[in-house]
Amino acid sequence: MALLKSTKVFVCLGNITPSLGVMSARNSSSWWGGVQMGPPDPILGVTEAFKRDTNPKKMNLGVGAYRDDQGKPFVLSCVRKAEALIAAKQLDKEYLAIGGLGEFTKACAQLALGADNEVLKSGRNITVQTISGTGSLRIGANFLSRFHGGSRDVYLPKPSWGNHTPIFRDAGMQLKAYRYYDPSTCGFDFNGALEDISKIPEQSVILLHACAHNPTGVDPRPEQWKEISDIVKKRNLLVFFDMAYQGFASGDIDRDAWAVRYFIEQGHNIVLSQSFAKNMGLYGERVGGFSVVCKDNEEAKRVESQLKILIRPIYSNPPMNGARIATTILNTPDLRALWLEEVHGMANRIIKMREQLAAGLKKNGSTHNWQHVIDQIGMFCFTGLKPEQVERITKEFSVYMTKDGRISMAGVTSGNVEYLAEAIHAVSK
Ligand code: LMR
Repeated sequence: MALLKSTKVFVCLGNITPSLGVMSARNSSSWWGGVQMGPPDPILGVTEAFKRDTNPKKMNLGVGAYRDDQGKPFVLSCVRKAEALIAAKQLDKEYLAIGGLGEFTKACAQLALGADNEVLKSGRNITVQTISGTGSLRIGANFLSRFHGGSRDVYLPKPSWGNHTPIFRDAGMQLKAYRYYDPSTCGFDFNGALEDISKIPEQSVILLHACAHNPTGVDPRPEQWKEISDIVKKRNLLVFFDMAYQGFASGDIDRDAWAVRYFIEQGHNIVLSQSFAKNMGLYGERVGGFSVVCKDNEEAKRVESQLKILIRPIYSNPPMNGARIATTILNTPDLRALWLEEVHGMANRIIKMREQLAAGLKKNGSTHNWQHVIDQIGMFCFTGLKPEQVERITKEFSVYMTKDGRISMAGVTSGNVEYLAEAIHAVSK
């Protein structure tokens, strides 16, 4: 004990993790005197700044959260109906299993892979319920860090969702990158991606966004996915699919899951993260799934046992409310049909806003080519605005977005799209 309390040990800990702001230990009057102030979160911190702004015209295009055409948070009717059905059942509030609600994990895997998938029929997947997409990625990253014998290297597209880096880094993985976005075309750098992927050392992990790439809104086309699959196979890479937007990209849940299903068909034993935050609007309910496709059922059982051992000391078992809602929607035919209609409606509203924004920019006299605003897909548009232009649009117009120029199209409405077009034109002309 005496040794543990010695300054030497604490100073040494401080030196290991300077980026976390841990310095040397103090004494009982201020144990945390050495903790440095950390920066705000690059995405959620934008909302904090937005809330402080008093301009009535302010727009929050930072976080990816769907709004209706009045700019209000949107609760899907299928969710309200599922909640009423669940309330009427007067269910208990016992703990869920460590891996979550069984009916949910089954429906979740079926949604991603398709109910007829051979993987599900032969029982060679394991799916656990997770704390939305972030929790799923983290459980996945922890699992890889502990059991993926091959390599600790995980290759992310450049750029990728801001939270991917800390999730994998904090789980002990080494972050690497492959080319993905081409700023000169505001599109997919297919050749760059293939070239980089072809050089990734064997047995590394590659992260792929299944659809509606965040932050760029740029997805490979099916024929490009096929080439990516071939090269990934040649390099013997473990594929980690992040599917946070199934249904949100095209309005069609099967179309958006195409790449995941294709890779499985091609023999990739993938791991997969799913989130129900966006496609069911269950943001704060934290509903997600993590799946591992295994060689056979026996391997899946062993993997399941270890996932449970990983989850138990972190949060013991997941929350039940959101999982019950999602399960009720997925397993009740008329609610499922209503959900599909509503997902389609959300995707379409976003597509309409893209068109209106591009038209508004033209109307304002912008001479830039804004075709990418229309061509990009899903919740986000990577505008191409530079950090100094982002700073200006926030300061002069109270339009809030992440520093990389990403805007959440889901926060654009018929009422504010013209203002946004004016603002973007003003800072980009
Ligand atoms: C986003 O990228 O805005 C969303 O995925 C929300 C989040 O947690 O970052």
